[in-house]
Amino acid sequence: MNLYPAKSYLKYLLKARHYKGHGIHSPFMYELVSEVLWDKHPYYSFSEIEKYRKELLNSKKVIHVSDFGAGSHKLKNNIRKISDIYSSAAIKRKYGDFLFRLVLRFNSQTTVELGTSLGVSTMYLAYPGKQNRVFTIEGCPETADVARGAFKRQGLSNVNLLTGRFVDVLPVVLEDIEVVDLLFVDGHHEKDATLEYFRMCKEKAGNNSVFVFDDIHWSEGMEEAWEEIHNDRDVTVSADLYQLGLVFFCKECKKQHYVVRY
Ligand SMILES: C[S@@+](CC[C@H](N)C(=O)[O-])C[C@H]1O[C@@H](n2cnc3c(N)ncnc32)[C@H](O)[C@@H]1O
Repeated sequence: MNLYPAKSYLKYLLKARHYKGHGIHSPFMYELVSEVLWDKHPYYSFSEIEKYRKELLNSKKVIHVSDFGAGSHKLKNNIRKISDIYSSAAIKRKYGDFLFRLVLRFNSQTTVELGTSLGVSTMYLAYPGKQNRVFTIEGCPETADVARGAFKRQGLSNVNLLTGRFVDVLPVVLEDIEVVDLLFVDGHHEKDATLEYFRMCKEKAGNNSVFVFDDIHWSEGMEEAWEEIHNDRDVTVSADLYQLGLVFFCKECKKQHYVVRY
């Protein structure tokens, strides 16, 4: 059992502040907190994603899963129920809603996701608008097939799902992209791998890009990777929401790191 997150959560609680619209001097961060983090607008797409969540939760189907990256601490069998994969891997509503608002706020035209799984988080990235091209990469072919079917049924033609290892597929995806407006890294939670994906994508970061990393406190290695990422010389503003870490590259902003209670 991985006890690391429990210990790191206590440390986070000691440092985190609520920042509910006050106590922030940076206008950039003020907007992010008040308009994106705490916005409660119930978008119509959320109910479409909810339907998909229910479908996955009630699914009796099993698939053969190929394990990649750091694997799962909870699931060890290679034959798994879709409902179990959903319960252990899919993004929680609160963070999915947040990703959706982030795409809207930053008007992302090109989004890259590492770790599609069943496609739940991809939907939050793709629903805000067809002008946002979403490239999502998944290593496990059978898991990817489930997601692909769902994107088709929901008419999400702006999603381009690619199957293969991140290390092989990401360079190919990046070759054809001028700027990665939004990056969501949600797989292969190991220090060196995470830093490598960050370096590769940073080459394509623009002034308005936002990179989001999941599970930044999952292990000592992931915390070390997160420290390096938010201290990177090209990163200006960064925010630690415990589950997610966000970094921004806006050159006009002062370098500042926020630990936000969320
Ligand atoms: C936590 S799940 C993603 C969950 C998904 N983002 C969501 O919220 O619905 C991580 C996924 O990344 C895939 N993965 C992990 N490491 C990988 C790698 N090195 N190459 C390709 N896929 C990988 C796994 O197969 C798994 O499906």
